[in-house]
Amino acid sequence: MKNKFYITTPIYYVNSKPHIGQAYTTIVADVLARYYRNKLGEENVYFLTGTDEHGIKIFEAAEKEGLSPQKFTNNISREFKKTWQNLNISNDFFIRTTDKKHKKIVIDILEKLKKKDLLYEADYKGLYCVGCEKFLTINDLVDGKCSDHDREPEELAEKNWFFKLRKFLPEIKKLIDSGELIIYPEGRKKEVLGLITKQNLQDFSISRSKKFVPWGIDLPWDQDQKVYVWIDALSNYITALDYPKGENYKKFWPADIQLMALDILKFHTLYWPAICLALDIPLPKALYIHGFFTIDNKKMSKSLGNIINPNDLVEKYGADASKYLILSQFSFGSESNINKDEFLVKYNSDLVNGLGNLVNRVTNMIEKYLKGNINIEFKELFFIEEINKKIEELNFRGALLDIWKVIQKDNTIIDKEKPWELFKNNSLEELNNILQELALDLYNIGLALQSFMPQKSKEIVGIITNKKVIKPEKPLFPRLNN
Ligand code: MSP
Repeated sequence: MKNKFYITTPIYYVNSKPHIGQAYTTIVADVLARYYRNKLGEENVYFLTGTDEHGIKIFEAAEKEGLSPQKFTNNISREFKKTWQNLNISNDFFIRTTDKKHKKIVIDILEKLKKKDLLYEADYKGLYCVGCEKFLTINDLVDGKCSDHDREPEELAEKNWFFKLRKFLPEIKKLIDSGELIIYPEGRKKEVLGLITKQNLQDFSISRSKKFVPWGIDLPWDQDQKVYVWIDALSNYITALDYPKGENYKKFWPADIQLMALDILKFHTLYWPAICLALDIPLPKALYIHGFFTIDNKKMSKSLGNIINPNDLVEKYGADASKYLILSQFSFGSESNINKDEFLVKYNSDLVNGLGNLVNRVTNMIEKYLKGNINIEFKELFFIEEINKKIEELNFRGALLDIWKVIQKDNTIIDKEKPWELFKNNSLEELNNILQELALDLYNIGLALQSFMPQKSKEIVGIITNKKVIKPEKPLFPRLNN
């Protein structure tokens, strides 16, 4: 990897408030950004997230609330920003597709494509789902309805501008095959290759008639058309960097990792690379796709009222603990179910009784038996290397499990060796050895948590490297009963 790291999340639709699925993607990006800042230096990492604000879905949602689309998107975009601040997310920039600069660069991009003769006008006939903001094929329908939105698509014919996607598919296939464009996990890569080879993919339209989609960027050479929301949205990954001349663009593009869930696989693995090829710019290096969350085995949805708002979690558990609870539940890539009751159980067992208790016990004993004096060399233990490897492989759950193994081991050592009895029996050398060993472990646990729980990590490292180690006044994690 070059000496820089550019990571992106999808930009989130502002048709509803942030939920835990979007928080998951954002937290994963945050862990990686923090990890690489530490490894490569602050200035060599760029972490981008933001909001996707155009299109019919958003227009409809604004109308329902009696607000202008701009006002409506301002409100919800602010809500996203605030949520990421509450979760202590360390994004370097927050892009909005209603930003003036973004809109201008999108137009430049489209004009470039047109000049290169990669756009053409044609009739589009099809079944259009307003919910998906796309035309569906017969295969997408269940009982004549869009299965995602449970509504019948509308028959639609309109003149659109099309992008010559098909021209780029053989090249994209070659790049995926050769591993130059990484699609992870392997199963998703196969799925994408299958899309290219088995489905007769068509060119896709990059504009929509204003009549159906009144809220979007105007197509400069055709007054009847707006830019299709996906072209608008995908471009964010380079408009945020001031493509084509910006310093950030020169320094950070291509993206090292682009994160998303499988719902937007096709757009990112085919449409987006095709646009990059068309613009003659490098392709993103890796697309990492994770599964969809369900809540208590049900799909998250407004109508079921089972959407978890990340802000509620933060309010109850704090930012660091919320991130831990979300990341430790499942492995990246898999389909995952969130068991709502599990949060409290895990909070109390892993954080209060596990980590918090260990910090309490160790610092208390050092204060009491060693007068707060420890005498160790603060060095990295081997397990840090293992954890770093896991973070780089996006095996966050594995990394956290490893850290918690050390926590468990240390709590067991204390239970078994009973330092208070060693003190009573005057076995001071043994007592000293054990406490020094525990102190070094605690220091390393603090280090290992740096990317996952930045605040708690800082607290732990601060306490243990202090001249006089004293037990914190307040426990690291207060016990919660419900
Ligand atoms: N606006 C588009 C993306 C444009 S990117 C150029 C969009 N937005 S979205 O708000 O619907 O968010 C999609 C992303 O949010 C998913 O790819 C995923 O990263 C995250 N998640 C949304 N729902 C999710 C779950 N139920 N589970 C896990 N992640 C989910 O699509």
